[in-house]
Amino acid sequence: MTDYRLKYVDLLKDILSEASSFSSIKNDIDDKNKAFFNMLFMTTFRQLTFIKEEILPLFVKKKISKKQDILQYVLYLGIVELLFLDTPSYAIINSYVEIAKTKTDKFGANFVNAVLRNVARQKDKLLNNRKSKYFSKEFLKILRQDYSAQEIKDMEEFVNIEPMLDLTFKPSVKPKFTDYIKLDFDTIRLSSNIKVTELDGFGDGDFWVQDASSSMAVKCLSDDLTNKNVLDLCAAPGGKTAQLLSRGAKVNAIDISQDRIDILKKNIKRLNLEKNLNIECIDALCYEANDKFDIILVDAPCSATGTFRRHPEILHTKTIGDVKKMSQIQEKILDKATSLLKNNGIIIYATCSLSKAEGEVQIRKFLNKYKDFNIKEINIAGTSLMKTKEGFLRILPQHLKDFSGTDGFFVACLQRKN
Ligand SMILES: C[S@@+](CC[C@H](N)C(=O)[O-])C[C@H]1O[C@@H](n2cnc3c(N)ncnc32)[C@H](O)[C@@H]1O
Repeated sequence: MTDYRLKYVDLLKDILSEASSFSSIKNDIDDKNKAFFNMLFMTTFRQLTFIKEEILPLFVKKKISKKQDILQYVLYLGIVELLFLDTPSYAIINSYVEIAKTKTDKFGANFVNAVLRNVARQKDKLLNNRKSKYFSKEFLKILRQDYSAQEIKDMEEFVNIEPMLDLTFKPSVKPKFTDYIKLDFDTIRLSSNIKVTELDGFGDGDFWVQDASSSMAVKCLSDDLTNKNVLDLCAAPGGKTAQLLSRGAKVNAIDISQDRIDILKKNIKRLNLEKNLNIECIDALCYEANDKFDIILVDAPCSATGTFRRHPEILHTKTIGDVKKMSQIQEKILDKATSLLKNNGIIIYATCSLSKAEGEVQIRKFLNKYKDFNIKEINIAGTSLMKTKEGFLRILPQHLKDFSGTDGFFVACLQRKN
């Protein structure tokens, strides 16, 4: 039991210090331990603000030295197991005390032992007296730049609600299974514990996994896409590429990451949508083409704060600095897109960030710079709550509160004048 937890302590440190991503680490965990690993880490990210702000200050009076900083990660995992998972407490405490001894010394082990025993003894009181929610101080700082206290409170409700499984179907295909919700904008929503690969139609390439919010970027193109030349500038892993192809567009899909392009290729192959597709691994800023495009999709790299339900580690890793850095990259990619677009052509700009610097503000800046563009109003059934006065989509988790939420997302549709 101690062995794999010893490794998990290092992995947690790597994720929280952004040395590795949770998604890539998750893929490397063997099948036997995957379910437990997932539960332990997802719970840790969701409960970390409570642990850091309410529990540790009660029992840790002196700052943990830099040399022994691994002990804080030992405590995070130990406390999560004691308070939120059903492992017997003596087994957990012994296990984490052993880890502390291996990682530091007998003083470190005694310290972990004392804290965990106190937490175990006071479990009910600690849980009953809980005040804090889930957003970290830095995450709140990011949100407070753009949202009211009530809006933030409403978003926070969704941290601890398991996101459902959302599927996008090819336009002509109907689900071959039952027990699903069909949202107004055609997303098929199922319980999160369903294994997607076991659903009828998966092998036939009927559908792909795509959060409802994320599907809006392509859905805002209401015209017929048959034979339209589309450039998908940040395409991998290909959810939106698949939407474009399944509506008959000819797509040049590019992405800077070869690993992610490999996933895109695999996804598009399963969906049997390879026919009108060209793929290239290249930095969007270096991309050149002989002909200009009818439509360019900029599903830009971003701080991804809107995905905190599925990626709660984001609550503890993203900073205002990340938002600023990403908005500068997005601006450059948008500049590039203008040079590749036909007259009358459309740029769809989308991000899964909650920050307006990566959404509304970015696009206002764009429209000030490029006077030959107009906002094309987005009209998708069932999205009236998400529409802004300017005609963008600003999607918040609470906009689908009756259906257990959705990811935060932004979409703008921009048309070049003739
Ligand atoms: C939000 S994801 C795209 C998701 C994708 N459109 C989909 O629907 O599945 C952003 C993508 O941008 C890529 N990216 C980041 N910087 C880039 C750049 N300079 N040029 C091209 N792609 C880039 C990342 O590798 C990542 O795959």
